[in-house]
Amino acid sequence: MGRLCNLNFVASVCTCIFLVAGQMHAQEVIPPSDVVIDDDYRINTPLTSALPDPFRGLETFIDRKLGNCVACHSNFDVAAMQFLGEIGPNLDWIGDRLSEEEIRAILVDSKMVLGSGTVMPAFYTDRVGNRTLEAFKGKTILTALQVEDVVAYLSSLSQESGFDGVD
Ligand code: HEC
Repeated sequence: MGRLCNLNFVASVCTCIFLVAGQMHAQEVIPPSDVVIDDDYRINTPLTSALPDPFRGLETFIDRKLGNCVACHSNFDVAAMQFLGEIGPNLDWIGDRLSEEEIRAILVDSKMVLGSGTVMPAFYTDRVGNRTLEAFKGKTILTALQVEDVVAYLSSLSQESGFDGVD
């Protein structure tokens, strides 16, 4: 009986450690200063171990206070919206043109990947001078998970997968 209780105790301690470790794992994030863009302008590792969600990605894409991608980009999901900008390329079927790793790099540091003259903001960098607003100094515009959500959303827009948007 005593032995059984001990075993139970050991089992619940193990479960606890497992759960805590699981949670720590869920919160693992690569800080902007540690993100590596390789020579082919790709970021091969997701910025966070948390699970991305393409539906949340669309929300971030549209939200004027977050990605505000629609200030410059259109695609079939947002074509009916008002005040769409068209300075940036249309992003229909972007998942066929660019890989997930390439999209991630463009979002993280557009200035490095597209050229320092691009009007597109760098969404996940802490490098001074890479931001549109002084107020954003030392902060990233999007969180690691928000970037991954948008990466998941845009890479899902591919003719190959037959997925033409979440609407
Ligand atoms: C202020 C305007 C602006 C905003 C805001 C903006 N972009 Fe861009 N983006 C551009 C421009 C312009 C280009 C084309 C490269 C260039 O000319 O600088 C571009 C290029 C891209 C590309 C590459 C497209 C291709 O066909 O190669 C992707 C992907 C992209 N943007 C995604 C996004 C996403 C996602 C957001 C929001 C999180 C966003 N952009 C916000 C202006 C913007």
